[in-house]
Parts: sequence; C-alpha cells; structure tokens
Amino acid sequence: MSTQPHKIILGAFVPGVLTGSAWRLPEAPKDSFRDFDHYRYIAEKLEAGRFHSLFFNDSVQFDLDPGLEKGPNSVRWDPLILAPALALVTRHIGLITTGSTTYNEPYNLARKYASLDHLSNGRAGWNLVTSLGGGENFNRAAHTQHGDRHERAEEFFDVISGLWDSWGEDAFPQDKDSGTWLDLDKLHVLDHQGKHFQVKGPLNVARPIQGYPVIAQAGSSEAGIRLGARVGELIFTAQQTIAEGRDFYENIKAQALTFGRPRDHLKVLPGVSPIVGKTQAEAEAKYERLQELLDPQSFLSRISRFASLDYDLAELPFDEVVPLPPEHFSTDSHPSRQKLVYDLIRRERPTVRQLFNKLTAGGHRVLIGTPESIADDFQQWTEAGAADGFNIMFSGLHSQIDDFVDGVVPELQRRGVFQREYAGGTLRENLGLPYRQNRNS
Ligand SMILES: Cc1cc2nc3c(=O)[nH]c(=O)nc-3n(C[C@H](O)[C@H](O)[C@H](O)COP(=O)(O)O)c2cc1C
Repeated sequence: MSTQPHKIILGAFVPGVLTGSAWRLPEAPKDSFRDFDHYRYIAEKLEAGRFHSLFFNDSVQFDLDPGLEKGPNSVRWDPLILAPALALVTRHIGLITTGSTTYNEPYNLARKYASLDHLSNGRAGWNLVTSLGGGENFNRAAHTQHGDRHERAEEFFDVISGLWDSWGEDAFPQDKDSGTWLDLDKLHVLDHQGKHFQVKGPLNVARPIQGYPVIAQAGSSEAGIRLGARVGELIFTAQQTIAEGRDFYENIKAQALTFGRPRDHLKVLPGVSPIVGKTQAEAEAKYERLQELLDPQSFLSRISRFASLDYDLAELPFDEVVPLPPEHFSTDSHPSRQKLVYDLIRRERPTVRQLFNKLTAGGHRVLIGTPESIADDFQQWTEAGAADGFNIMFSGLHSQIDDFVDGVVPELQRRGVFQREYAGGTLRENLGLPYRQNRNS
C-alpha cells in the first residue's frame, strides 16, 4: 500500500531591507525598501510559485548596534500599511504581518487585522510577537521584561480574540423592509476586566472572514512555546538539526493537546535560507560571492551582542576555535535564540570563520544546493516529523526568489509534495486550518 507523500507548506519571509550583503550585489537595486514595486514583484512571483503565504517581520525600534553603518538594519515600512496594498495586487497568497502585543493596544490591532482580512478576502495572518526591544520609544525607560511581556501577550490574545467575536454570523441583516439594520441578539459586548487590559468592546469592524486571522508565532523559550501551543497556528522556528527539530515539533504539539487543540491545528515551519544553483558548484559560488561582501568585523560584533556572548567574536583570530560560552547566561530579549547559538558552539566547536558562515542567516539553516538536494532536505525533515513545511528566509533579492520559485518549486511539485494550485479561497483553507468559531455562538 502506498502512503501519501507529506505535503509541504511554504511560507516566505520577506525582509524590510535586503539582508546580509545582498544589497551590495551589482544587480540589487538601490532603495528597494521604499519602492512598492519591489514588494509587488515579490508577492506576484511567490503567488505564481503557489507559496501559501508571505510574511513581514517587524520591530518598533532602530537597533543602534555596533557597525550599523556597514549593513542594513531595521529600516522598513510598517507592514500593516504594506500588506493592504499587496492585497489589491494578489488573489491567493496569505499576507502575514507582525504586530507587537507589548507596544500596541488590543483594540487597535483587532481593528487593523479584521480590516485586512476583509480587504484581502480572508488572507490575513498575524505574527504575534512580544518584541525584542523598543520600550524607549513608548514612554518607558527600557524594554518590558520577558515574563511580563508574555503575561501581557496571553491576556492580549484573550482580548483581541474576544473583540473579533463581537459579532455573530449575519449580525447585520440590513433588512430594508422592516428597517432592521442590526440583529441585537448577535451583538456581544466583551466587557473584559483583567490585569493588563480593561476593554469594553464591541469591535467597530465586522467579524473577520476567517473568524480570526491565522495566528503565527515564533516563541521558543518556555513561555514562548506555551503561548504558541495555546494560540499559535503557524509556528516559525529555527532548529539546526532534524533531531532538535523533532524535539521542538513534538514538544509544542504535545503542549497544544493539553490546551485541547489537535496536533494538526499547528503547522511548524522551521526557517531555511536557500542558495539555489543549477549545480552544487554554482550554488556555492553564489554563496561565496555573498560572504565576500559581508563585513566580518561588524557582523561578528553584532552576533556577539545578539547572542549575549561575554566576548566579542570580532576580536578573535578568524581561524581560532570559538571559546565555550558561559554555562549560565541572563538575557531578557530572546533567550531561546541565544541558547541556539550557544548549543551550536558547544556541539560543533567551530572556528570563528565557521561560526560566521553558519550564522549569516541569523541562526536559520543555510541550504546551499540544487533544486534536487534542497527538495531532498525538505522531504527528510517533513518525513522525520520535524516540520510541516518551511519558512523560506529570503534576503529580498529578486534573483534569489526567482531561483527558488523557478527551480525548487517545480521539483517539489514533480515529487507530489507541493501544491500545484491553491486549495481554497482563504489562508486558513489553504493551510488546512479550521475556521475559528465564535465563542458566543
Ligand atoms: C522566523 C522568525 C521571525 C520572527 N519575527 C519577529 C518579528 O518580526 N518581530 C519580533 O519582535 N520578533 C520576531 N521573532 C522573534 C520571536 O518572536 C521570539 O522572540 C524568538 O523566536 C525567541 O523566542 P523567545 O522570546 O520565546 O525566546 C521572530 C522569530 C523567528 C524564528
């Protein structure tokens, strides 16, 4: 008896600015980050490639990192302004934007995501983050602590989803004969009184087409995984090996069950950064070209800060083995991602050069290969139960997206593991996620 091949979900990470050294390539246009046509090209290309969704990360600060004059940083458009514009030039692809629970009020975000879901005919997704920083821009002395951010995020979700449930099905009969515009029995006033929020409601936007937009989430700490297990539907993550990927996958799906959620209501997408060539040698040459254009000193200083190492990698000789990081570390920004770097250093004992090469995609796996070898890798991960699909971490360079869509996508389709057509109309339908029922019905 033949078993069905694992169908792979493909999401695209589209950065605000070209990442790494891609901006220095001769073919990279200047100023793409403030040119709508740049994003339009990407969205249309990914849709032609039948990607399930595209996703914009976001922050509410500009990182004043060392060496920031050397490489692109967090300059970007507000994705909740960009996504509606893209909704008008696409028809199928999901549009996932990041919204911070630390630096927004639930009522504001509830309106925006509900509006985007209507405008896009049910293609909106919300990447729920607690943010890596930014308190100084919001009347605070510093960023809110990790524990407090997550406590607020949990309550934030209860409020925002409660607001989306403000209206029952057919709440607006608009019956011209009787003069009844609204069915009062289908109006639900939230009246939330909690530790972080007092919100009366109802929302002044109709219920989203999908019930709720698709909830994406990327926490990997204990609190982050708990939140993902409770509310996340697309889970972005960054494991390096199949064994680690499987542990994470099993852990979060098992925790979801304890919240009464079936395993397949969460789709786990590890990030990979692909460099595709017609031959392995061509792919490696493309990679080398990018690496040569990176400024190692500023990159290494940034990584040292990102991972809270107690030394600056930029000050070590390039071919020296990286010293072991401290056993215990205290950081409040993104502890699980820092642990990932520590684990990598412990497991592989790399030289500074090797670590530099490994981490150029921000801790995600860099896959350098042909369409066939990349498809093999994807199948190994999904068949091993380490992934439901992949978040493809594009640099934003059009040629990299073209290489993937014109090379890897047809290979996956040929193997019967990737869709040739969109399955439904909404992002939920395309991802195989259920419509979110109203808690009041
Ligand atoms: C693919 C991916 C995208 C992410 N995008 C954002 C983002 O746009 N904004 C943000 O503040 N954090 C983002 N994060 C960070 C996560 O929200 C989270 O803080 C991080 O994965 C560490 O998890 P932890 O806080 O539970 O340790 C992203 C993480 C991943 C893996």
